[in-house]
Amino acid sequence: MNTKTSIFLLTMAGIFLLASTQASAEAEPAIAEITVYKDKSCGCCGGWIDHLRAEGFKVIAKNHTNMAEIKANFGVSRPLQSCHTGVVNGYVVEGHVPAADIKRLLRERPDVLGLTAPGMPQKSPGMQPKGLPPKGYDVLSFDHKGKVELFRRY
Ligand code: CU
Ligand code: CU
Repeated sequence: MNTKTSIFLLTMAGIFLLASTQASAEAEPAIAEITVYKDKSCGCCGGWIDHLRAEGFKVIAKNHTNMAEIKANFGVSRPLQSCHTGVVNGYVVEGHVPAADIKRLLRERPDVLGLTAPGMPQKSPGMQPKGLPPKGYDVLSFDHKGKVELFRRY
């Protein structure tokens, strides 16, 4: 192989690398898309969805008649359950978890199934008037082995 040929090949390899880097950068969405499963008769889920949209998430809301089945499918055990179940970039987000914690989850990408705010914390986004800070409850992370850890205390 002469020098000209190797320079040509190196240049082509460079162009190829550049093109594939750009393609993967485009594939990474700037706005996280979250699918939220909820019962249509539950109002607080709508309040939480409004909170996520205000914080820049793209929300796809799906009404479901059997939420117990959804929670079983996504590995949310009974003590960790709330009303709605969200799925974002492969993570499960159960209940009234503040958007800030979801953003941290997506940034840090810990080896967990997801986050949960079990039950219906009264002072949480979707449960209290808009703009008030979350207060008086814990956001937990959980994994597929049943390990539960404190993610953030409000
Ligand atoms: Cu709720
Ligand atoms: Cu709800």
